[in-house]
Amino acid sequence: MAGGVTVCVLLVSVLAVGSSSSTDQLLPEDTAYEMITEYRDNYPPPNLPYAYDALEPFVNEATLKVHHQGHHRAYCTKMNAALKEWRKQDPESQLAKSSLYDIMKNLSGVPEPWRTAIRNNGGGFINHIFYFVTMRNKVYTAPMGELAKQVNATFGGYERFMEEFGEAARNLFGSGYVWLVEDEERNISIINTANQDSPISDGLYPLLVLDVWEHAYYLQHMNRRTNYIGKWWGVAHWGAVSRIQEWWRKVRGDEDEEDDEEEYDWEKEVPEEKMRRSMIGRKRFQRKRRRVEVGGKMRDKPRATRSCNSPLV
Ligand SMILES: [Fe+2]
Repeated sequence: MAGGVTVCVLLVSVLAVGSSSSTDQLLPEDTAYEMITEYRDNYPPPNLPYAYDALEPFVNEATLKVHHQGHHRAYCTKMNAALKEWRKQDPESQLAKSSLYDIMKNLSGVPEPWRTAIRNNGGGFINHIFYFVTMRNKVYTAPMGELAKQVNATFGGYERFMEEFGEAARNLFGSGYVWLVEDEERNISIINTANQDSPISDGLYPLLVLDVWEHAYYLQHMNRRTNYIGKWWGVAHWGAVSRIQEWWRKVRGDEDEEDDEEEYDWEKEVPEEKMRRSMIGRKRFQRKRRRVEVGGKMRDKPRATRSCNSPLV
């Protein structure tokens, strides 16, 4: 039985590496986040839509394997245990019978004995799903379509967005995440969350996420978080981000008219030469971060970043 499972996982991985050209080749793992809006007695830990070595050299195999097989599955197991116990002890609760998404949106309604476990492990389960599905090697590495327009209008361009997002990740104290989120009015913003808190609990819709817990990069980069952030841009999968944005709008009944939608080849491969030029350009840009004089010393200019737990500063 175990051998059969292994063969299955390997087959999925091989298919994932080979798939790259059209929406009809999407794997169920590409949209694993959709399960959070469904009620489940037990939420399964989703497989990755690619092999463990598929993000090399940006995220190495050892890091990805322990992150997915160790950390993510642990959150999943503990979340399911907490949900099971809550549902058993509190059979009349309507919230307990709701989807994980509804539960995370209404954390204050979860009774105290289970609230912390669900907040931490439910957040860990959901946050990592978005993290894993928004990475892919050799696909579009910049926003496209409407999202590109939103990024330009909000941040003044993709490079400025990268600068602000990277700054938030470098400055995040302790463990947490940096996110690109959308609100009900379709405004996008960069926020950070501490520990395993999820933007969903603040009524926001996560689009892109960078896991800034040390377990996400320590094996590969040791304590050099900046190196991890720089490498991660190479696998940020904007096709998946647009797909998630479209899905969230369906979830909240805020869909566009059919005629206004543009068709994208979400998984379209970027030619090697274009990818190489893109990465060189980004490295040059990252070296040219804006510097200001603070207390007689030259430092990176701080950027205003909104936190989930604090007003816009
Ligand atoms: Fe993580």
